[in-house]
Amino acid sequence: MSNNFPKEFWWGASSSAFQIEGGWDEDGKGKTVADFNSFKSSDKQADSKVASDFYHHWNEDIEMMKELGMKTYRFSISWARIIPDGDGEVNQAGIEFYNKVINKLLECDIIPFITLYHFDLPYALVEKYNGWQSRDCAYAFERYARICFKEFGDRVKYWVVHNEQNLMMRVDERMNITETDSVKKEKIRAQMDYHMFLAHALTTNACHEMIEGGKIGPAVSSTVTYPLSNKPEDVWSARMNNQFKTDYCLDMHFNGEYPGYYMAYLKEQDMVPVMCEGDAEIIKSAKMDFIALNYYRTLTTRYLPSDEAHKKGTRIEGFNEVDYNMYGYWMIEKNENLKASEYGAQIDPIGLRIVLNEYWNRYHLPLIITENGLGTADVLTEDKKVHDDYRIDYLKNHILAINDAIEDGCEVFGYCPWSFMDLLSSHQGFKKRYGLVYVDRTDFDLKDVERIKKDSYFWYQKVIKNNGEIIE
Ligand code: BG6
Repeated sequence: MSNNFPKEFWWGASSSAFQIEGGWDEDGKGKTVADFNSFKSSDKQADSKVASDFYHHWNEDIEMMKELGMKTYRFSISWARIIPDGDGEVNQAGIEFYNKVINKLLECDIIPFITLYHFDLPYALVEKYNGWQSRDCAYAFERYARICFKEFGDRVKYWVVHNEQNLMMRVDERMNITETDSVKKEKIRAQMDYHMFLAHALTTNACHEMIEGGKIGPAVSSTVTYPLSNKPEDVWSARMNNQFKTDYCLDMHFNGEYPGYYMAYLKEQDMVPVMCEGDAEIIKSAKMDFIALNYYRTLTTRYLPSDEAHKKGTRIEGFNEVDYNMYGYWMIEKNENLKASEYGAQIDPIGLRIVLNEYWNRYHLPLIITENGLGTADVLTEDKKVHDDYRIDYLKNHILAINDAIEDGCEVFGYCPWSFMDLLSSHQGFKKRYGLVYVDRTDFDLKDVERIKKDSYFWYQKVIKNNGEIIE
């Protein structure tokens, strides 16, 4: 196999603020939507209060990143640590915390690669005007971004605006959508989505205006969908699934307007968002510099014809596996050709090669993978080892797929597996682990959050050292 990774390839790893930091109300930090949701969850005891306790372990954690050989670290800033109520006073202690982290990374020759918003909207903005439902939220976000650019932009050149706007938008609790009437609810969702697009554009322009050499882009939850059969309807449903879950979002960033099929959908559902004069120019002028993509699995769909049970354009309540729009219904199916993780993600390295090719061919923008990993339970042995060969296997096959995509001609400049260390999973606390480094705590017992390098850590260290060459 030829090694196609460029010499300057960014080998890294990822995390996000609410999933690792802890210190949730320390030194003036405000509560976020992510805190709020993690506190109310009843089936697990782990929440964002301590998480992996990065807030108190950042120095040793970054030392371990250095030892791993990481070239970049993709992490997020907590908006509510910088501005506790979202749009008021700046919290100097928050700025100082991230200054320490950034300076330490640079000392260790690791490029800081920062996401501004990873699911953790300041909760005060929800109380004030239900967050993204209000246009004011876009301006509050732009102000927060400008503060970050001013404080950190001399040292941080690479920024992601929102993590997975396209996925976050579909999850009511992340967006704080509590409306129960389904028509009103979808209208709110469409308006929130639009405000996030506006915020993305304002922030992209601010980055280019304020940071010399600044580069900025979105991190999307990438979607690759296969048709269950070669029936044209199934092929169509797979296409719809991609377009309505991810492509519309990238097209909006790229072209500065909703693609035709999406606008037709918004019109048909009578939920075209309120847009103000001048917005179109702002959104069109904001040019992303790269596309970051999170990739875990692929999906498979089957078309469902409209009938009495699936009436044109109506959502079937409580039936999450069915998606719909005025073009019809489709159902997510199991792909018999793929193995699934214990949590049901259909593992598919070739899908990564496919999506890299698709995005490259469509947008011709540099690509970086900002999340990719296997979430599963790990066993800590008595002599404090974690033999996670299943994770090594997963990472190896995905790295090989990137190598192939580069050979196909795609410009891929980095790979950041999820996650550097075990962290608070969105739904399964610490039962589901993704890290290269084990964090010794459980959902019910905080223990001492000791850091223990897993076998995958040592394996990835060799991969980085050999610039992607897999030497068993
Ligand atoms: C991504 C998110 O969608 O998936 C991460 O950006 C998240 O924040 C990851 O942790 C894995 O999902 P989960 O539910 O297994 O934590």
